[in-house]
Amino acid sequence: MTEIVSVALGSRSYDIHIGPGLLGRAGALIRALDGRTIPKRLPVIVDEAIVPLHAPAVRASLADAGFEPVVIQVPSGEGSKSFTQLQRVLDALLDAGIERSTMLVALGGGVVGDLAGFAAAIGLRGIDFVQIPTTLLSQVDSSVGGKTGINSRHGKNLIGAFHQPRLVLADLDTLTTLPQRERLAGYAEIVKYGAIDRPDFFTWLEANGQKALTGDAQALTYAIKESCTAKAETVAADELEAGRRSLLNLGHTFGHALEAELAYSGRLLHGEAVAVGMVMAFDLSVRLGLCPPADADRLRSHLSAVGLPVALPDHPEGGWQVERLLTHMAKDKKVKDGRLTLVLVRGIGQAFLTRDVAVSDLSAQLDRAIAA
Ligand code: GLY
Repeated sequence: MTEIVSVALGSRSYDIHIGPGLLGRAGALIRALDGRTIPKRLPVIVDEAIVPLHAPAVRASLADAGFEPVVIQVPSGEGSKSFTQLQRVLDALLDAGIERSTMLVALGGGVVGDLAGFAAAIGLRGIDFVQIPTTLLSQVDSSVGGKTGINSRHGKNLIGAFHQPRLVLADLDTLTTLPQRERLAGYAEIVKYGAIDRPDFFTWLEANGQKALTGDAQALTYAIKESCTAKAETVAADELEAGRRSLLNLGHTFGHALEAELAYSGRLLHGEAVAVGMVMAFDLSVRLGLCPPADADRLRSHLSAVGLPVALPDHPEGGWQVERLLTHMAKDKKVKDGRLTLVLVRGIGQAFLTRDVAVSDLSAQLDRAIAA
């Protein structure tokens, strides 16, 4: 059964379809998008690692719907969110003769979605695109909401555009080939929605999260649907991140600092860094007397129970340093007038934004996390 969640953005509204068998229906669903004629030639930007797994089904389904797919492969990994790959993709799109009414498909995880979405945002000053996310993390987060972009030597996601997709197809079948570590990393973002403002969902995850992770299709569909609903509501309320959308960064300022310190080496996947980062945000909230310790314990217990990290991993060069982490945090996009905006909590499901945390409190928290 397919579930549909809508992102309400006026004339730019779109649906997220969640369910099995969607790759095989991609062509028909794209064809049904609206009355206008989408040019036959349809570029598909795809992560080269998943070409053998998923490209044949998408290609066949597009061909059945009368399209001529042009597959453009990009290397796997964060390194592809670069000017070099962006230029390659844009040149390939122009070589393929794209028009303003061309529909582009992004097939893969967050890297491909962000890169292809940005190419769609700027190619011919903007063409439509469809997200077909094939990882749990991209299905519950990055494919929804229109954040697209690449990295710079100054940091992650610093160059990009808000460009909403016309359709998102989250095919559950693609998750069966996903390594367990990556599935768990995606699950951290699911827990995040509960921790931000859905306490009932968090309680549901405590009881059913493990089932969702180990192949119970009904539980997994529910978890993805709730996550996409949470994200859709947030994006509809604050598309350009003037306020509420920033809550989605719970755990991210800490998490990004850990990832940056580890040079994005894969020692800590993004979702794993978010799990540790959420624990740090809860612990800091407890330290500041804002959050009951029992709520931080609940978060830590649930993340550990499913197998996610809740503490800093060993540092490859032998030492985490508070100063270095603070420097990474200061480079975060969430710095405004030199002050760091943090997402803290008053409990499970009660996240809020603050710019009032003293550096001494932050340092003490980092010190404790390093010592733990
Ligand atoms: N991943 C956070 C956001 O889309 O705002």
